Amino acid sequence: MSFVNVPANVPVNPQAPPHYAAVIAGKRVPTAEWIDIVDPALGRPFARAARCGTAETDEAVAAARDAYEHTWRHTAPAERGRLCRRVADALRAEAELLAQTETRDTGKPLGQSRTDVDVAARYFEFYGGAVEALAGETLISRPDLLAFTLREPYGVCGHIIPWNYPLQVAARTLAPALAAGNCCVLKPAEDAPLTPLLLAGIALDAGLPPGVLNVVPGYGPEAGAALAAHPGVDHLAFTGSREAGASVMAAAARTIVPVTLELGGKSPHIVLPDYDPKRAVPLIVESITEHAGQNCSAGSRLLVHARVHDELVAALAAAFRALRIGPGLTDPDLGPLISAAQRERVLGYLRLGARDCVTVTGGGVPAGPAYEEGFYVQPTLLDRVDAGHPVFTEEIFGPVLAVTPFSSLEEAVRLAEATSYGLAAGVWTRDVGTAHWLARQLRTGQVFVNNYSAAGGVELPFGGCKRSGIGVEKGFEALREYTRCKTVAIHTRPGESTVSYEEGCEG
Ligand code: NAI
Ligand code: MG
Repeated sequence: MSFVNVPANVPVNPQAPPHYAAVIAGKRVPTAEWIDIVDPALGRPFARAARCGTAETDEAVAAARDAYEHTWRHTAPAERGRLCRRVADALRAEAELLAQTETRDTGKPLGQSRTDVDVAARYFEFYGGAVEALAGETLISRPDLLAFTLREPYGVCGHIIPWNYPLQVAARTLAPALAAGNCCVLKPAEDAPLTPLLLAGIALDAGLPPGVLNVVPGYGPEAGAALAAHPGVDHLAFTGSREAGASVMAAAARTIVPVTLELGGKSPHIVLPDYDPKRAVPLIVESITEHAGQNCSAGSRLLVHARVHDELVAALAAAFRALRIGPGLTDPDLGPLISAAQRERVLGYLRLGARDCVTVTGGGVPAGPAYEEGFYVQPTLLDRVDAGHPVFTEEIFGPVLAVTPFSSLEEAVRLAEATSYGLAAGVWTRDVGTAHWLARQLRTGQVFVNNYSAAGGVELPFGGCKRSGIGVEKGFEALREYTRCKTVAIHTRPGESTVSYEEGCEG
């Protein structure tokens, strides 16, 4: 059976939208109720996904446990790595199906979805190779002891992911966990669950044994909460809002399992007078408009030296006004937001901004019949934003850049630090000493100098400080995140064996 080309497995009439079932123990599992999946460019459903609850989550955890005990823990790293690399190739072979589905599901421009497919494949490729280099350490403590550490998989990992980068984040969290020898249950977001379900089918078709990867779509308080609280889960990884992350962590406190939390940010760009405008302007614009700003590491604050404030704001405003807005399938610069609710949330911040700050450009819904159906918002530049204002401190998750001028490096650092987040920061200066000084001052998981996001490289560890989260995803570090350390100590004094060495050597 090939999973890939046939999402539906329930008897439906040809007019019905495709139904995407759960994937449990290598099989498609339909549910009694289904969730309507809305196309954000049209504001209408175009597919349905299974609505899993406690029963399906139980089945999925049991399938993962069974696969772990009977198959995956006995599979050599080289073989797990080979399978991961086959998954990478299979994802690339289905690139167009995945990209089109991602765009319909999330609204993001098609070019960005194509990049997401490539990045997802890169995760499986990278961890497929890297896992063979995962090793413990030899420890010298006493002359009569030889000790070493083993990196062992946890067993069953639970993964709860958001709707902004469903395919990329699924691959980011699954690839290292699977390569390291865990079996996985993934709960995608109710707003965009389709590509993780396709990913599971593609991985099974590529040879991943049944039960090693299970996907249970559903609502957060149903399938999500059931997975987070499940006593059969040995590790939890969550990406999403702080509120949901806190409830996952509270659940993990009861079962005493480690959690990795990736909870977003309010990441600043710090622009000094000797910045290079030709490099900075397009990358600052991209950092807040990629997927309409619905990106955990979006560069959503601009801290700019007063001396270059006016010229930079003018250049950014011109760039914002030139952006093409439209349905993701036409590959514009900016697609719609994920949902009507998310648009309302963003518009609420824009109203606060209009009241208390200066709206330089944007500020609402784009005008015209082309924008009536979808969840569009204009790219918006808010100037003169005070530290402490909600558009300065809160994650908006829309194409909204908040500008605040500063006049000394110390003030720039103070402003950068004036939120409870600490995910990323961009530093724009040609002075190498200043760049290094700032990089060490900032309490963020990553600092980008004269670039932003480092083109997304899968090799680079990624995590948050402060309330942006706990633990590290991506890079070789993630293999440590999804394994536990076991210490073995061996007493090495000779001559205590009861076995005669002579006998032992015979034959
Ligand atoms: P959310 O955090 O509720 O959703 C993320 C995932 O968590 C989804 O799979 C959801 O079903 C699940 N979830 C929700 N409640 C849960 C619970 N009690 N137990 C277990 N799983 C649960 O995000 P939401 O409500 O869709 O978006 C609201 C805001 O959150 C956004 O505007 C944005 O600021 C932030 N957010 C941040 C993301 C990031 O990457 N940092 C991603 C998504 C949202
Ligand atoms: Mg929520």
